[in-house]
Amino acid sequence: MNRKYRRPLIAGNWKMNLTPSETKVFMSRFRELLPKGRNNDVAICVPAVCIPAAVHAMRESRVSIGAENCNANPAGAYTGEISASMLLDAGCKYVILGHSERRAMGETDQEIHQKLLTVLDAGMTPILCCGESLEQREVGVTEEWISMQLKYALQGLDPRDVRRLVIAYEPIWAIGTGKTATPAQAQEVCAQIRLLIRKLFDARTARAAVILYGGSMNEKNAAELLSQPDVDGGLIGGASLIPEKLAKIVETANELE
Ligand code: 13P
Repeated sequence: MNRKYRRPLIAGNWKMNLTPSETKVFMSRFRELLPKGRNNDVAICVPAVCIPAAVHAMRESRVSIGAENCNANPAGAYTGEISASMLLDAGCKYVILGHSERRAMGETDQEIHQKLLTVLDAGMTPILCCGESLEQREVGVTEEWISMQLKYALQGLDPRDVRRLVIAYEPIWAIGTGKTATPAQAQEVCAQIRLLIRKLFDARTARAAVILYGGSMNEKNAAELLSQPDVDGGLIGGASLIPEKLAKIVETANELE
């Protein structure tokens, strides 16, 4: 992380875990454990039905609540979908977009681009995910693949809007596998992403871009990963379901220079 230019972010992604009742229990414990230092932002992205309980439990705290997806359309006949304005009204500040688990369900780069515009338009912060499969890494196309994903998502954006979003590098082979990228691997790709932002936009936007690493980050490996100069925080799945673990990661981030 580089605190001079960017404010680190520790974000949880609960995926399809925990009920609204369990959310209340988690949040009250997490509030007790949360370190006092305010050297970084903290967000927890939760299933849509858990948002009201999470927002209520975290009112007047430093923890923001986020969603895990959102529909690109403003309103209408989209049964089962949730719009950006609904998420905003429910108290969300962040929305995860383009997670590999949603891409695996058929979400396309163009849809992710549309969703990104919608979330920015609503005034929330998108957490835009990108990442390669094990096969792509082994073939040696990681950089090209991530460039493609980001070029699609960020096409036509104003640099001012790019400065409002968060990018998460999540190698698919490291998600939920316990197989973390090495700090050097995480740094290499996060640095490539920053360079790409510089090429597509400008140096100021690249310097301001908050780039997270995600993939089996936990309270044990967080310090090493977060010490990398281009890793500005973490997007944490499994470990974000345990208040003690998530609080420890926040504490670790707080303590790093
Ligand atoms: P894990 O931390 O469980 O590997 O999940 C990472 C992730 O996908 C966060 O979005």
